[in-house]
Amino acid sequence: MKSKNNLLIAFIYFVAIISPAFAASPRPVIAQNGMVVASESIAAGIGLDILKQGGNAVDAAIATAAVLNVTEGYSSGMGGGCFILIYWAEDDQVYAIDGRECAPFKAFRDIYIDKKSGKPIPDVSTEGITAVATPGQPAALEMIYKRWGSIAWADLFRPAIAVADTGFPLSRTYAEKLSYFAQRLYQYPANRGIFFPAGDTLPYGFGDKLIQKDLAKLLQNLASRGTEWFYDSDFTREFVNFVKEQKGFLSLNDFLTYQPIERQSIHGNFRGYDIYVMPPPSSGGIHIIQMLKILEPFNLSYWGANSSETIHILIESMKRAFADRAYYLGDPDFVDVPIAGLLDSAYLDRQRNTMKPYQASAIQGPGSIPQEESSQTTHFSIIDQDGNMVAITSTVNTSFGCGVVLPGWGLILNNQMDDFSIQPGVPNYYGLIGSEANAIEGGKRPLSSMSPIIVLKDGLPAGIFGSPGGPRIITTVLQTFLNIVEFGMDVQEAVDCPRVHHQWKPNVIFIEPGIPNDVLANLIAKGHEIIPNGYWSSAQCIWIDENTGLITGGTDSRTEGAAVGY
Ligand code: DON
Repeated sequence: MKSKNNLLIAFIYFVAIISPAFAASPRPVIAQNGMVVASESIAAGIGLDILKQGGNAVDAAIATAAVLNVTEGYSSGMGGGCFILIYWAEDDQVYAIDGRECAPFKAFRDIYIDKKSGKPIPDVSTEGITAVATPGQPAALEMIYKRWGSIAWADLFRPAIAVADTGFPLSRTYAEKLSYFAQRLYQYPANRGIFFPAGDTLPYGFGDKLIQKDLAKLLQNLASRGTEWFYDSDFTREFVNFVKEQKGFLSLNDFLTYQPIERQSIHGNFRGYDIYVMPPPSSGGIHIIQMLKILEPFNLSYWGANSSETIHILIESMKRAFADRAYYLGDPDFVDVPIAGLLDSAYLDRQRNTMKPYQASAIQGPGSIPQEESSQTTHFSIIDQDGNMVAITSTVNTSFGCGVVLPGWGLILNNQMDDFSIQPGVPNYYGLIGSEANAIEGGKRPLSSMSPIIVLKDGLPAGIFGSPGGPRIITTVLQTFLNIVEFGMDVQEAVDCPRVHHQWKPNVIFIEPGIPNDVLANLIAKGHEIIPNGYWSSAQCIWIDENTGLITGGTDSRTEGAAVGY
């Protein structure tokens, strides 16, 4: 009997080691020359067409971004902002372009605080024109085009204009978002002619054709007149007048002075992989590297993906990173973000040493870093036949941004002001809290969780990662990367694998479906509080197979994207 039990234990042990805790996934898409992975399939297909026509990854990225503005406009577009990472093979360099929105110059620290009560005024930073920050996406796309584009700018917009003009059938995801936000959208008369059939208070549904003539006109102007038209023209003045009428904060000067910024990407290393991330005002980059460095000494693959031991250690690293985020991170042009201190290896060793293997720890606040001498979203990943890589995460913040569409132009306006810390300790839409470093100031960029990353191995392209999901972007990208590099999953399995998330406050682990109950019981026994959640994020990743050099793509099965290559 005893030997039978031993056999059983050995078998369970063996299975636990060789089979990670994730459901079966489709095989990854494989290609030899180039690939586009995006969270919406029409946009991915058009990006691929551009690659096949001889365009490079930057050309394909611009065309894909323009189509996403049409087919997934609730998530990203010219009325929002983006972060772009580019690996340019000829230079063997990673470039980081910050196309994040800026707070209007009229904005100030307590703009959303009720003077009498001293408390935040509900919804003004998320809904309506008061939530809008100066859009950055058009200028950022033009910046990368001027440097790397190889196909006529106008040609890159042609497919998006056609899809906006003739319409496309609504995906389930788009229809669900429309239905969820219908009431908010219906308030603004300009939205009715776009999202609602004539005379109807219910919006278009799954499979209905969404035609966006006004948006086609906007994209046509961008195509033929460049972004100067967006930031300094009669259109700009019309835009600003509308904002003024509606009592918003944007003024002409915000548009005239808006500039995308080229920043120095941040580099880290994990088990021989060179990881390049977006610097602040992205918080994701720094924290992904922090967590990877905290995790590196652990033998996570021995415990297995989504075992309670692995989740416990991941969660402990997440708590520490998010506590640092709340305290230290903000727009580096306005506050000193102690990047070197946050990534200092002795500091991260100390952070790791405060972790207990069998017990959840209570984190009171950020770690004490060494002093320095000085300092609904979308993601798509593209690689071309020359090995150039582009990772773009782009957003209007929450679905349909502030809910206002610029009348006559079909432009969905962001509500990125909510990514600022409205008041220290007051959570934003995503439950994130912040400090003075992320307080509102005119011209400042709100802190972001968007985390595009590019990975090289031995100087060669290895991977492109990214996702939407607010703060869950950071932990999604971390887990997707670990799923490949640490747990040996292919890229499709890696994006599909159930996820966990902790953001320091609230002090709970959010858990996707698919993680077994005994794992949850073990985590509870270690002192963690757990909140079972639905699914989140939408990772869109490319990974280069080290043995064959083949390009493999994984699009998140949680959403309706596509990985397409040739
Ligand atoms: O920049 C940020 O961190 C947020 N505005 C991102 C929002 C987002 O990912 C929404 N997606 N589900």
